[in-house]
Amino acid sequence: MKAVILAGGTGTRLRPLTNYLNKHMLPVGKYPMILYSIRKLKEAGITDIELVTGRTSAGLFTEFLGSGRDEGVSLTYRIQEEAGGIAEALKLAESFVGSEKFVMLLGDNLFEEPLTAHIEAFRKQENGAMVLLKQVPDPHRYGVPDFDHTSKTIVAITEKPAVPQSNYCVTGIYMYDSSVFSFIDQIKPSGRGELEITDVNNAYASRGLLHYRTLTGWWTDAGTFDSLHEAASRLREEDTE
Ligand code: DAU
Repeated sequence: MKAVILAGGTGTRLRPLTNYLNKHMLPVGKYPMILYSIRKLKEAGITDIELVTGRTSAGLFTEFLGSGRDEGVSLTYRIQEEAGGIAEALKLAESFVGSEKFVMLLGDNLFEEPLTAHIEAFRKQENGAMVLLKQVPDPHRYGVPDFDHTSKTIVAITEKPAVPQSNYCVTGIYMYDSSVFSFIDQIKPSGRGELEITDVNNAYASRGLLHYRTLTGWWTDAGTFDSLHEAASRLREEDTE
């Protein structure tokens, strides 16, 4: 299976640091953030990876990661000219992915447990998509699912709801079949001018094709100073264990 890691965007919540440095190159413990996504994929046996990032940062990634050889993976790169949304960035990986099922990670998501079992469950799933959920104290910051527990599918996701329907959030760990690209073609930019991954996921959900599993280990979206700090201390604990 192949994987796509998104490492573009503007990192507005981490300004002024991200005025100078792409969010995914910020240090988390001993390493730049991007290395954790790569290692999580490698741990799950995925070594064929495409990294999507913005024009001004691409040089940093190629200089630091090169072909991926030092990490035991094979990396290719795509440039997203403007931060037009997660779904827009994913669309750039269409020719890399081809017609196979694949995994997509948001490069600012840091988490504990191996992806192996989740990916295995997705492999067995006939078609559609799968998202990984996590119980959080602040669901209004994320995409929040409304689910059907019996069929283990998601009925709909609301992006950053003022009044969340549950305390689960959709993490930045997604698994798709190749129909994702035609769903991206059908969506329109949101109010903030971005092609939203939640709209793509809802295209699967409305067809009964959005499955979910839940993360049990720690998980954080390192997009704010607090969560970046939390991730660094979690990873430091792991490093010293
Ligand atoms: O972390 C999980 C959350 O990620 C989900 O719960 C939300 O449903 C999903 O929309 C997303 O929300 P965020 O507000 O955290 O997304 P953000 O704009 O911070 O971007 C997340 C990642 O995607 C980050 O690693 C940068 C990358 N990205 C983002 C944009 C907008 C790109 O590569 N290109 C882009 O144009």
